[in-house]
This record gives sequence, structure tokens and C-alpha cells, in this order.
Amino acid sequence: KTVENGSFQWSAPSNIALVKYWGKKENQIPANPSISFTLKNCKTITKLSFSKIEKTDNFSFDLLFEGKPKESFRPKIQKFLERVEVYLPFLKEYHFTIDTQNTFPHSSGIASSASGMAALAVNFMSLEKELNPEMTDEYFNQKASFLARLGSGSACRSIKGEVVIWGNHQQTENSSDLFGIEFSDLHPNFKNYQDTILLVDKGEKQVSSTLGHDLMNGHPYAEKRFEQAHHNLSKIKSILAKGDVNEFVKLVESEALTLHSMMMTSMPYFILMKPNTLEIINKIWKFRQETAIQVCFTLDAGANVHVLYPANVREEVLQFIKNELVVHCQNEQYICDEIGNGAMFL
Ligand code: PMV
Repeated sequence: KTVENGSFQWSAPSNIALVKYWGKKENQIPANPSISFTLKNCKTITKLSFSKIEKTDNFSFDLLFEGKPKESFRPKIQKFLERVEVYLPFLKEYHFTIDTQNTFPHSSGIASSASGMAALAVNFMSLEKELNPEMTDEYFNQKASFLARLGSGSACRSIKGEVVIWGNHQQTENSSDLFGIEFSDLHPNFKNYQDTILLVDKGEKQVSSTLGHDLMNGHPYAEKRFEQAHHNLSKIKSILAKGDVNEFVKLVESEALTLHSMMMTSMPYFILMKPNTLEIINKIWKFRQETAIQVCFTLDAGANVHVLYPANVREEVLQFIKNELVVHCQNEQYICDEIGNGAMFL
């Protein structure tokens, strides 16, 4: 089938890892399996417009961010297109306009690469589906995740499902290094689980994730860490299925601190937490001890804190956040989010 021109628009969310992906091999293959909550509110909305052209030697595309030209995205998108071209052989037969916006504040220190690459991948899959209308939804989602991974590893966990596992794991049927799969056994205790993101440091990332993953090559503790991730993934799957929020708290906080320990013990070494990150962590621990409310934290490769808690304690925890934690945020900024479902066609 030939398709002359048209446009699609998709949103794709960010995600927050519970068992962290840190370390990769060639071709965006993860050194260990990971699992994440898909978010709902923090997302990228991307419109892909396309028109058929004479096949050229180069990719032909314009980039807009919030409606204005954005040339600084070009190298990243160019690299993505080069990587996925073998899987989307029609790319050089079209001129594209890629128009992107995020729902979260610009340079909030929230990585937009997962949501951005996921949104781009589903858009290109929509074009492939126009060309091959008999494509199944399963194929669409799996290939979208596969393509998103080539843009940014963790982006493959932002396509479909509330909880997504990515990476070969012996105890997880159908798991793959090549794409994310949905974990569908979530206990009602985790329904609408909340994630309030405290913006401690909104600056540019101190360590790019590419450099970060590289630091695991030859890292003295790498092998043990990869082993532990396999073990923790088995554990958290059972925790999520049983609804064991107490065990969830322990495992998730330990994973976050382990991620940061890996960075502190690599060469070169980095401390990505800020004093306010530690203030927040200590206050969360004190609050949990005093109230027995099962609120916990997790961290990305940066200083911001994700505060995770069940939906039924939302009021109490938000009060606590406003009274005690917001003072440690840059410009008192935080974002209320919760578990979501993945990419949406708009
Ligand atoms: O997808 P990348 O290459 O930006 O790596 C993300 C790494 C962490 O966010 C630190 C952990 C994870 O699993 O998302």
C-alpha cells in the first residue's frame, strides 16, 4: 500500500524504575533486567506529519518543540533514525515534521528521553501500520517498544502497561532484552499507586545516562549487582502480586540506594544526591516510623526524589509533603503523578 501524506499524534508517559537498569552492552542490550511503574501525567506529546518524497540518501525532517523550531534535538533524532532505519525501511521516502511538547516543566530534571523516544516510536509504528494495515496490536506494541529501546533503553518500558519488565529474566516467561513486556499480576493494593516527584535539582544532568551505563563496564561490583537485580526482580514480582507494601518499601529503597552506590564506587565516581535529597530521605524515614504509613522513595540518576505511596493515604502523605518536604525542593516545585497505562493515540 502507498501512503502519500498525513499525520498522527501520540502521547507517551515517563516511567520510574523499581528495579533499576544500570549498565548496558552493545545495541542497547541491558546488562540486567528491570521493572518500572508507568506514569500517567508526566508525558511527551508528539505529532508526526509526513509527506512522500523521492527517496533520498539522507533523512529529511524538521523538528519543532512546543511549536517552535528546535535544532538542538537534531543529532539525537538523527542517531535514532539511523539505528531504526533497517526496521523501518520507508524512512527515507518521506519528509517528516516532528512536533513535540512535554506536560512537565521544561528542564525540571525529569528525563524526557523515555517519554520522548516512546512517543516517537509509536508514531512511526502508526505509519508502518498505514502501510501494512493487517498488523496486529501485539506486533505494533512489541515493535514500538523495540524501536523505543534503540532511542533510549528505558523508553521501551513506556509503551504499554501499568508495570513493565524489560530484560531477559529466567523466572519471567516471555521476557526479552529487546523489548518490554507487561506485568499483569498487580495486586489491588498497588492500584493507582502514587508518585510525587520532588524537584530538588532542576539543572542539567550531571552524568548523562550513556556515561553512567559505561561506568558499569569494569566496575568492581558489576557482576554482583547484575546478579542482585535478577534476584530483586523475582522478589518484587511476588511482592506486587501479593500486595505486600511493607516489603515493597524495603526493596525499592534498597534498589535506589544501590544505583547511587554504583555511581559512588565507579571510576570516575559521582555523588548525584544533593543535601536536600538526604534531608528528604531522612524525613520520609522518620514519618514512616512515626505514622506506620508505608511511604517510600526512589531515585533516578539524579537528585530528584520520587515519593511512592498507596492511593488510600494520599491526603496524609500530601499534607506531609507540603508541610515538611517542599522546603527542600527547588522553587518548592513538585509534580503529582501516579501509575498510568502507557502510550495513547490522540
Ligand atoms: O534509559 P536510559 O539510558 O536513560 O537509562 C535510565 C537509567 C535509570 O533511569 C537510572 C534506571 C532505569 O531503569 O530507568
